[in-house]
Amino acid sequence: MPPHINAATLYMRTLITNISHLFQTEDHNDTPILKVAGSAMAEISSITNAWLLLQDGYIHSFGAMPTLPDVHADEYIDATGRMVLPAWCDSHTHIVFAAPRDGEFRDRILGISYEEIARKGGGILNSAKRLNEMDEDELYDGSLQRLYNVMQQGTGAIEIKSGYGLCLEGELKMLRVIRRLKEQVGIPIKASFLAAHAYPMAYKENKAAYIDLIIDEMLPVVAGEGLADYMDAFCEQGFFGIEETERLLEAGWKYGLKPKIHANQLHYSGGVQVGVKHNALSVDHLECVGDAEIEALKHSNTMPVLLPGAAYFLGIQYQPARRIIDAGLPVCLASDYNPGSCPSGNIPLLLSIACTQLKMTPEEAIHAVTINGAAAMELANDMGTIRVGKKASIILTHKMSSLAYIPYDYGNNPVYKLIR
Ligand code: NIG
Ligand code: FE
Repeated sequence: MPPHINAATLYMRTLITNISHLFQTEDHNDTPILKVAGSAMAEISSITNAWLLLQDGYIHSFGAMPTLPDVHADEYIDATGRMVLPAWCDSHTHIVFAAPRDGEFRDRILGISYEEIARKGGGILNSAKRLNEMDEDELYDGSLQRLYNVMQQGTGAIEIKSGYGLCLEGELKMLRVIRRLKEQVGIPIKASFLAAHAYPMAYKENKAAYIDLIIDEMLPVVAGEGLADYMDAFCEQGFFGIEETERLLEAGWKYGLKPKIHANQLHYSGGVQVGVKHNALSVDHLECVGDAEIEALKHSNTMPVLLPGAAYFLGIQYQPARRIIDAGLPVCLASDYNPGSCPSGNIPLLLSIACTQLKMTPEEAIHAVTINGAAAMELANDMGTIRVGKKASIILTHKMSSLAYIPYDYGNNPVYKLIR
């Protein structure tokens, strides 16, 4: 967008009135909420019959309709019958990819497992081949389309990973596409460097050499160009082991890249403990979580991020969300949008899966995709609740009567408008 268009929106005021319920409101005199954990996840603050004033891209003020001041605005929205809540913060995606993998979908239905497909050179390696053959503009166009789609479903901030390049050139291509998306779309986007997503065929017999390549040749360039915010690794049996993950995370920290890792999807691999040990911002997937993992998380600031869309699509066990919440921990939900294990970034559908399969209540699930999603991207000061001074990044719903209607009405889009 040319600069003068941004400048024009700078002086814009939008007044939304007659909002049936304004959810996740925070009083600006209170200490800011940076994440919500344990039993607190069951409660969502709200104002019934409310107004909300947005100015210059930020939340200016809000309250109950009887307190509406006499203000002039450039745009007026009558939200009668509609609800307002903070936009979704999707903290784990791989939306920059070249091509779908619907052929492997068929193979899996016929009984070949995700891990077997990967061992045979399909899976992530299949995606890497396609991505390395594709030019940057085409990759950008497809990714932008997917990003616009998820924004229509209410996503207002997103994390995107590299990891389908698996060589310096390919990883840089992906990270540059992420940077272009950031410039084009204007919602907060965080980038994670995930060269440790799978071993390229040429390194199958010499895994240490690939770790060296990542640490000695890729990381310095990626960090030097400021292309990544976080360091990721697929810590899993058959992918990157504990020692390899530790080397990678230590190297990332040297460049100021906080860890944000894939852990415990397919096995009790020790990934959660490694993430906690290295002060990971989040550990993601967590299908395999028991007492030891919960104990480790309790003594940390690491956010447990559950990706039930991937469990759904792979037909594997779901994450034990109830045990994690009942242990007093926060839970974040994210889409994992990627061509292999979860070809969807649809957060409303994810909310339904979280309620029906993980037995999270609608309130818990909403916290998990708003403020806890923001926390898992270090955006909690800007996003995730309705608080004066935060970004005007909000969802105006279709006409509906309750928060529970969003996950209840599964398969349909509750979003009437994403305002940002
Ligand atoms: O989070 N688990 C590793 N990475 C992705 C899947 C990537 C792929 O299959 O392309 C995930 O599920
Ligand atoms: Fe993932």
